[in-house]
Amino acid sequence: MELIIDAQALGADLEALAAYSDDEPPGVTRLVYGPADLRARAYLRQQCDEAGLVVREDGLGNLFARWPGSEPDLPAVASGSHIDALPHAGRFDGTVGVVGALEALRALRRAGFQPRRSLEMILFTSEEPTRFGLGCLGSRAMIGALTPDQLRQLRDGQGRSLDEWRTSADFTAPLEAVALAPGAYGAFVELHIEQGPLLEVEGLPIGVVRAIAAPAALRVVIRGQSGHAGSVLMLERRDALLAGAELALAVEAAALGTGSRDTVATTGIFTIGPGAVNAIPNVATLEIDVRDIDLERRDQVLQAIKASTEAICARRHVTYDLIELNADPPATCDPAVVETIIKVCDRIGLPRLIMISRAYHDSLFMARICPTAMIFIPSRGGISHRADEYSDLDQIGQGVAVLAHSLAALSHA
Ligand code: GLV
Ligand code: MN
Ligand code: MN
Repeated sequence: MELIIDAQALGADLEALAAYSDDEPPGVTRLVYGPADLRARAYLRQQCDEAGLVVREDGLGNLFARWPGSEPDLPAVASGSHIDALPHAGRFDGTVGVVGALEALRALRRAGFQPRRSLEMILFTSEEPTRFGLGCLGSRAMIGALTPDQLRQLRDGQGRSLDEWRTSADFTAPLEAVALAPGAYGAFVELHIEQGPLLEVEGLPIGVVRAIAAPAALRVVIRGQSGHAGSVLMLERRDALLAGAELALAVEAAALGTGSRDTVATTGIFTIGPGAVNAIPNVATLEIDVRDIDLERRDQVLQAIKASTEAICARRHVTYDLIELNADPPATCDPAVVETIIKVCDRIGLPRLIMISRAYHDSLFMARICPTAMIFIPSRGGISHRADEYSDLDQIGQGVAVLAHSLAALSHA
């Protein structure tokens, strides 16, 4: 089958999405259910309609755009990613996998391909944890790893519930209907930017992901005592910030302490109150992200951080609440789907690297319900979650070609 990927259309889709943003270009900020997210969704819905796909949306706003196959009752083959972007992020994270899936389906249609299993593009709601403190909301809920009751308990930083947000965005279908029926999908393939340097360093256009690292996140709220910055003597203070500062260093030490470069830990949120230069901080909130490809080692780091929190807070006479926001196992990609992608790369002459994903993706959850794998394309300088994130359009097009051929093969498997 001769497949022609329309790089111009891909570029136009990425350009259009980048404009739906609450940040100054080249930065992109697009929080789930915010105005920019809703406008970006409307754009994509229109593209799906124009491509002749059958669109369905669930109560969370997960969007499914289907090309029915000749045997529509067989489990479908899907591909997709997310369009939400964390503050001051780039334009490629997630979006490449959404517009890439769309262009893969359009290219297959143009080539006269006839799917046997239905093919589908999925836009997952809120892969980034920005608004509700938990990543991969849509995919977690779709596979039943997040129940409707748990969804109803989610709140943003200002206390506004997910239920309020989704209904104000006009997603009103019951949350009970978000979980997928067993056997809904026969395979899932996600195209994504690498977000790391390996492909560029090796000079290779395609990564085939064999495993996804295990992510976890903690929220620690430390409470001390405020007071006058001039008159409370140093030895009488219960400064919440200083306990938090020690904890942030303990997080770094816990990750370094495993001796493995696969262990990483980050204190990505650190806020204090009351926030006056002449008042002692009485509250510090830290959100801590911990990852490893090895689950046992990741969990040991979590335990070490919890023990440090207890010891630091006791020594500094402050109290704390620690919540585990998530602690997910790693995912192993399906060997047969990985093999399908490798064969496509070999057939169309694109050298590839078999690799792990250190970032998490909706594939981490899709892998629990169907055979799943991922296709990576290079990220310039390995940079991501930054405004200067960049991937070359030709390389994105090559990723889409690998995706389209893989979907075609899986549709007839
Ligand atoms: C996804 O955005 C991640 O943080 O890995
Ligand atoms: Mn991301
Ligand atoms: Mn992503």
